[in-house]
Amino acid sequence: MTYSKKIQGLVQALTLEEKVGMIHGNSLFATKGVPRLGIPPLVMSDGPMGVRMDFQPDQWVPAGNDADYVSYLPSGSALASTWNRSLAWEAGRVLGEETRGRGKDVILGPSVNIKRSPLCGRNFEYMSEDPYLAGEQTAPMIRGIQEADVAACVKHFAVNNQETERLYVEAELSDRALRELYLPAFEKAVKEGKSYTLMGAYNKIKGEHCCESQFLLDEILRGEWGYDGVVISDWGAVHNTEKAAACSLDVEMSVTNDFDQYKMADPLLAAVKEGRIREEQIDEKVKRVLLLMERLHMLEGDRKKGCYNTPEHRETAKAAAEEAVVLLKNEGNRLPLKEKKIKKMLVIGENAVHVHSCGGGSAEIKALYEITPLMGLKMYLGGNVQVDYTPGYYVPSAQETQSASWQETSLENGGGQTRDTEMLGTEESQKRREALEEALRLAADERYEEVLFVGGLNHDFDSEGQDRKDMKLPYGQDEVIRKLLEIRPDMTVVMHAGSPVEMEEWADQVSALVWLWYSGMEGGTALAEVLFGVVNPSGHLPETFPKYCEDCPSHSIGEFPGDDTVRHKEEIYVGYRYYQTQGKKPRFCFGHGLSYTTFSYEEVQVSREKEIEVSLKVKNTGSRKGKELIQLYIHPVDNGADRPVQELKGYEKIELDCGEEKNVTFTLSEESFARYDEKRKAFVTEPGRYEIWLGESCEKILAKAEVRIG
Ligand code: BGC
Repeated sequence: MTYSKKIQGLVQALTLEEKVGMIHGNSLFATKGVPRLGIPPLVMSDGPMGVRMDFQPDQWVPAGNDADYVSYLPSGSALASTWNRSLAWEAGRVLGEETRGRGKDVILGPSVNIKRSPLCGRNFEYMSEDPYLAGEQTAPMIRGIQEADVAACVKHFAVNNQETERLYVEAELSDRALRELYLPAFEKAVKEGKSYTLMGAYNKIKGEHCCESQFLLDEILRGEWGYDGVVISDWGAVHNTEKAAACSLDVEMSVTNDFDQYKMADPLLAAVKEGRIREEQIDEKVKRVLLLMERLHMLEGDRKKGCYNTPEHRETAKAAAEEAVVLLKNEGNRLPLKEKKIKKMLVIGENAVHVHSCGGGSAEIKALYEITPLMGLKMYLGGNVQVDYTPGYYVPSAQETQSASWQETSLENGGGQTRDTEMLGTEESQKRREALEEALRLAADERYEEVLFVGGLNHDFDSEGQDRKDMKLPYGQDEVIRKLLEIRPDMTVVMHAGSPVEMEEWADQVSALVWLWYSGMEGGTALAEVLFGVVNPSGHLPETFPKYCEDCPSHSIGEFPGDDTVRHKEEIYVGYRYYQTQGKKPRFCFGHGLSYTTFSYEEVQVSREKEIEVSLKVKNTGSRKGKELIQLYIHPVDNGADRPVQELKGYEKIELDCGEEKNVTFTLSEESFARYDEKRKAFVTEPGRYEIWLGESCEKILAKAEVRIG
């Protein structure tokens, strides 16, 4: 790497102390600048759903001003659920502008770890169980962010798929699983997204902490992928000065305020002075930090100003939320609801009024506002329909939010735990019974033409620092839904959550079921628009919703959460790769999502020049305008041994009027068919026949074609 003359000059002019100051936290979210040389501090903020509130420089105490209310964007799961690369770019652009508008240089996101188990507390932040989808949605998001002269920080590299013991757990997995599942989204983030920074994870891999791993950081990231950006540690993820200095980690951050005692602070100075570490190793890190500053125009030139809370940002949040809603079930075309036929509507369920933006761990934000489902419905219906609300289930408020200083103590007890679903005292049981009785009483009133249940999870469950213990719905919701369905069999159910829940007690009985992720400030608006058909749903699940947690391969074959070590015995068979290969039916499969219209696929053709082109004609055969998501999977015919029955390799979303048809073309290369060969330590494409499966989910394949490789 050749650095500019400016960078070379600065490195020569910097003292060792100044250099060391530039590569560790000098406050909770910034490094030290060198004013005499015009080098500013590097200022970071959490994301990825918005720019986090400001804290005191040395305490996890909110600054407490009103300047840090921001736009609240749909979570990673929701963005992946749109399967729309342009929306990911747009969301990134908003996040970037707001980051800059708030005066920060680096936004700590997107988060792209693979969803290995439905129980991982941070799944709501993550994109998908599938590396292709995760990478395809992440790269444009990063490009969008970086348009604003701020850096994205793709995290957490790598194999950080659980919260329990997250600081120390060793992820034990084959190189094949690592290469095929856990690294590709990062590779795309770096190579296609060109993420200026990347965050090293807490956990260990091959016996080393990720932030000290020569294998991950030197061999793969810098060596194989040619990464020249800045590697920032997760907060408190560095344990050893020599190891961190010797590998490609650049900046150490942590949660404590003894900044001089960080491993890459005074201990590093001492190590250089005692000759245990060469100063050139520090220089390399400093050069990369300066290159980042050059890229962001922090050293000279015009830097974009950014802005936040603009009406246009809210429009983007709404557009993304609209495409993230997933229609899971719609028997007898129960939905969309017909507002003209409704005078009185009953909304049951605490999640109809719950505000989620302020929870979840470091992804929390101070949202300018958050339209809850109930607000969305009322605003949509105006005063023309009477909308009544009752909670239906009781949520103990004491557990609702983590204390402001949780992060300060987050390095204790392995950094994370598995959380018991609920602890219920007599008083709480009583409140729960009362809430249910009131809901049943109201639901029996036939003057309500429509009854809607909005339940699911909240950030007491979907949260950093803890995994769920099971997939059960909390607060006795199963009983509430079952009993309500007995008296209102046509009740529409909305699940509002960041990760799958078990729905087996009632899913067969419900005719209309809608999934709402943590969808940002306009989530409630988007939900109302989908329920009433202003928006034709086009969200599709970016992960499998198993019937029971035990069905999930990381639980039935592999381990979750393990103890000191978590063994990925399921190997590459994560998510649909497992369910489809084993013929095991989940409740809702990967890629599933219904529409209010129907589509047909015709004239599938495959042509081979240098690349492989798959084209087809897609037609809207229903009576409404709508968006169709065409998913492309490859299926090995001749060499299927120890390969998943299908793997996602392409997707396109198009909008079609009723009766309209459009051609869609996918381009694949031979690498699209490759698998990782442990012996050759490389991806290899085995010659033979492969089928191309085109469909609306991994189960619902509408057209097939064959191609011969090699
Ligand atoms: C989280 C990161 C976050 C950092 C700073 C850590 O605990 O794992 O995702 O960016 O804290 O808040």
